[in-house]
Amino acid sequence: MITQEKLAVDGGAKAVARLGPYTSKIHKEELLEVLDLWKFPPGVKKKMTALVEKSADRLEGPHLFRYYNPRPSKVAAAEKAFARYIGVKHALAVNSCTSALIAALRALGVGMGDEVIVPAYTFFASAAVIGACNAIPVIADVDDTLTLDPADVKRKISKRTRAIIVVHMRGAPAQMDEIMALAGKRRIPVIEDAAQAAGGTYKGRMLGSIGAMGCFSFDYYKILNSGEGGFVTTGDEWLHTRAQSWHDCAACWRPDRFASERREGELFCGENYRMSELQGAVALAQIRKAGRILRGYRTAKRRIMGKLRLPEGVTLQRVVDPEGDTGICLILFMPDVPRTKRALSAMQAEGIPAGGIYDHKVKDWHVYVHWDHILDRKSAARDGLPWSGVPAGKLPRYSKTMCPRCTDLLSRAIMVDMNWEYSRKDCDAIAAGMNKVLAAV
Ligand SMILES: Cc1ncc(COP(=O)(O)O)c(C=O)c1O
Repeated sequence: MITQEKLAVDGGAKAVARLGPYTSKIHKEELLEVLDLWKFPPGVKKKMTALVEKSADRLEGPHLFRYYNPRPSKVAAAEKAFARYIGVKHALAVNSCTSALIAALRALGVGMGDEVIVPAYTFFASAAVIGACNAIPVIADVDDTLTLDPADVKRKISKRTRAIIVVHMRGAPAQMDEIMALAGKRRIPVIEDAAQAAGGTYKGRMLGSIGAMGCFSFDYYKILNSGEGGFVTTGDEWLHTRAQSWHDCAACWRPDRFASERREGELFCGENYRMSELQGAVALAQIRKAGRILRGYRTAKRRIMGKLRLPEGVTLQRVVDPEGDTGICLILFMPDVPRTKRALSAMQAEGIPAGGIYDHKVKDWHVYVHWDHILDRKSAARDGLPWSGVPAGKLPRYSKTMCPRCTDLLSRAIMVDMNWEYSRKDCDAIAAGMNKVLAAV
C-alpha cells in the first residue's frame, strides 16, 4: 500500500531542505590568470601564487555582472566617480566609446535619413557610428586647431542635420563656443567625442560636460583605461534614460524595470554595451588617479614647450585653451611635405617619440581619405542602408579631396607623444633633440 506523504504546501516536510550555498563558477584558477596579467618583481608572483593555491579549492570568486550583484557594483561606483569628475549628473558605463557614441546618437533619436556632422580628422569610429545608426555622415573640414572648423560646419548644416559630433582630437579642446553657438541657434544637439580627452577642459568646464552628451573611451591607448570601456555623460535625465536603455537591449534598468512606458520614446529595442565588473574595478581605480595622470602629461608638455625654439615657417597646432589641453601630445606644422619627412626621420633617429599624421600612401583610420566604407558608400545588408535612407540626389558628395585643409595640415604635421611619467631629464632631452633637428632641417 502506498502511503501518501503530506505535501509541503499542506504542512508536510520539505523534500529539499536546503540547496547550497554554492559558489560562483569563478574560483582561484581565474584569480591566478588575472594575477598573471601583472608584472611582479621576481619571487612575489611565486609567493602570491602559493598563497592563492593554499586557499580553499573553491575560493569564492567575484560576481562580475553589474546588476543583481550581492556586493556594491564596481561599475556603478565608477559611474558615480566619473560623473563627479566630469561634473555632470549622469555617467553611463559602456564597453567602448564606439558604443557610447551609438548610445548617445540613439538617445538623441538619430536614425535613417538624418545627417550628422563629423570632422575629417578623427578616429574612424566617430564617423562609423553614424552609419551604424542608419544616418548619413557629413564630413566637415578641420582648421589649424585640428578640430572641427566652425566655418565649414556652418556650410555643412542642412535641414536634415540631427546632431554634430565634435571631437577633442589628440586631447586638445575643440572650439566649443563657436560650435555650440552654431548648433544652439538651430537647436541641433552637440555630442562631444572626448575619447582622447578625458580630463581636458574648455574655459574651465570639463570636456564632455558642455554639449548635450559626452562620450569617452577607456580603451588601452587612452588617458584613462580599463583595457576596453567607455562612458556616456549627460546632465539630461531623459537622454541618460534612453542611452541606458539602448546599452542594455532596452531591458531598462529604470527605477521600476517592468513598468510600462512613462513617456513616449522610453521603450525601444536596443543592444548590449554593458561594462563588466572587472573593467569597472580597473576604471574606478583609474578615475581616482586621473588628477595625477593629467598633471603628469601637462607638466611634460609645458616643460618641452618652454624649451622649444621654432624656426621661421614652423608653427604649432593652435590650441584654443592651452590651460585645458590634456597635454598628451605636441603637434607642429612644417612649411612643406619634404621638410616634414626629413624632420620626422631625423627626430626619430634622435630617439624622439615623433610620428607623422598623414601620408596618402599609408592607410590610417584617423583621416577621412581612408574611410572607404563611407567614400564608397558601403552597406552591411541588402537594404543599402544608410545610403538608401535618403532621397536620390540628397546624399553628400564624398571625395578624397573634399577637405583640403585637413590633408594639407596633416601632411605637414609632426606629432610628439607625451608620457605622464616623463622626468625633467626626459623632457629636456626631447626638447633639445627637437631643437637640434628643427635648426638643421
Ligand atoms: C576620437 C575617437 N573616438 C572614438 C574612438 C573609439 O573608442 P573605442 O576604442 O573605445 O571604441 C576612438 C578610439 O581610438 C577615438 O580616438
